[in-house]
Amino acid sequence: MSSKILILDFGSQFTQLIARRIRELNVYSEIRSSDITLEEIKQFKPSGIILSGGPNSTYNEDSPTIPNDIFELGIPILGICYGMQIMAQSLGGKVENSQHREFGYARIYNTESKLLNSIINGTDNTGPYMEVWMSHGDKVTSMPQGFKVIANNQVCPIAAMANEDKKLYGVQFHPEVTHTTKGQELFKRFILDICKCDQSWNMPNYAETAINKIKEMVGNDRVILALSGGVDSSVAAVLIDKAIGANLTCIFVDNGLLRYHEADQVMEMYHKNMGLNIIKIDAKDMFYQKLAGVVDPEQKRKIIGKLFVEIFQAEALKIKDAKWLAQGTIYPDVIESAGSNNKKAHNIKSHHNVGGLPPDMNLKLLEPLRELFKDEVRNLGINLGLPSSMIYRHPFPGPGLGVRVLGEIKPLYIKLLQKADAIFIEELHKHNIYNKISQAFAVFLPIKSVGVMGDGRTYDYVIALRAVETTDFMTANVANLPFEFITTVANRIINEVKGINRVVYDISGKPPSTIEWE
Ligand code: XMP
Repeated sequence: MSSKILILDFGSQFTQLIARRIRELNVYSEIRSSDITLEEIKQFKPSGIILSGGPNSTYNEDSPTIPNDIFELGIPILGICYGMQIMAQSLGGKVENSQHREFGYARIYNTESKLLNSIINGTDNTGPYMEVWMSHGDKVTSMPQGFKVIANNQVCPIAAMANEDKKLYGVQFHPEVTHTTKGQELFKRFILDICKCDQSWNMPNYAETAINKIKEMVGNDRVILALSGGVDSSVAAVLIDKAIGANLTCIFVDNGLLRYHEADQVMEMYHKNMGLNIIKIDAKDMFYQKLAGVVDPEQKRKIIGKLFVEIFQAEALKIKDAKWLAQGTIYPDVIESAGSNNKKAHNIKSHHNVGGLPPDMNLKLLEPLRELFKDEVRNLGINLGLPSSMIYRHPFPGPGLGVRVLGEIKPLYIKLLQKADAIFIEELHKHNIYNKISQAFAVFLPIKSVGVMGDGRTYDYVIALRAVETTDFMTANVANLPFEFITTVANRIINEVKGINRVVYDISGKPPSTIEWE
């Protein structure tokens, strides 16, 4: 069994980042709630443990604690921020509220230690320093017996501490955020030198193990999966197909709100080229009928989601001997739905419960990607032979073009939007811009304006182009597309899409605007 790192979550907003940093070192890591029992920790068999930060103060009565015996297991432990404080307090040290809340960049001065020795960004009057990101109100004011200071600065004399014999380390700063530019070096020291993990967590290994595991779990049972054409469900489908072949039935619903020719492309790639067993359901008219006259965005979303579930379930019920429902749930879904610092670590977010469990079928859940981060899923997809054009596609919302036609959805509007959007995306690829931005698409505005084309006057619809750059989609900046590029796209749309005579470029950031128009 390869090495594993256990991350205990005390509620920090950065806990996921810790897991990612470790996976980047090709070592498997998993986040569990801090109220885990000692027995559960032993069962996990970690090569090392990381205690995350958290919003509480260790000295408050209802703050999360940790079984004291954890420090006697002989397993290396790294405490970060709250994690360091809980380590100090549990072992007899003292944590107090700091006079100065420290937030933002800080310089710390490292001394001899296996963890921090000579990790430096530069030298100032005090000496060689490491630049770190601090975010704390409390600090350790007295260390437990056997510990020494391994980094300090004026505000925080115990910025890091260690009991090297017992391989216990604590850092007051956050090595997991990119602002701590040498943070990864620290993790490398802890994970590779101190915990002595082997770096065998990689996607070819994962694929092989996952395929064997699926074979073992599922045997000769039949499995059904809702294939959307998105990255997660596609990678899950291809992985399961490699394990059980035709015993997997994918159900693909064409809701009439997909991108230009997308339904055909999905069938061409997964069914014709890769040989997956797929049932395609043409439900375009059903969706258009249900959506006729509906203008409210949230109501549109609800109708689209509900109808999808109904259609999927009806189709799934026809597969009488199915025993499993497969889903492309990924690790962030699992963590998010569990919430921070609670025990329900294995719940599934309702909207990721794609299609829902069909009633009366008593299906078991198969989620082969639930341990993977998005970039790992992409990596796995590439390893399984999926084309990078599919794997690195911009995100596409579940309700699809349904939220990109403003107000009422009409088949004509969808058709015009699909064509305009396809031109925009094609040009972004042609100009090598597509992969440099986070999301780009066209929006259909159901208003008419006057134009002239040839000798005639036109009275046609408007298309808005939207392109953004973002890392987390919570905030976003407008993509600074070259003006000439935008005009090229606009000219093509107006010339090639009959019914559109005006194109505008959306220059709003998020906030205050959202990325989608609805
Ligand atoms: P907003 O418009 O909220 O979008 O700034 C942020 C990101 O979420 C996507 N999005 C959705 N995805 N169902 C989805 O699956 C939805 O209803 C939905 N609404 C927005 C959006 O495309 C962007 O990537």
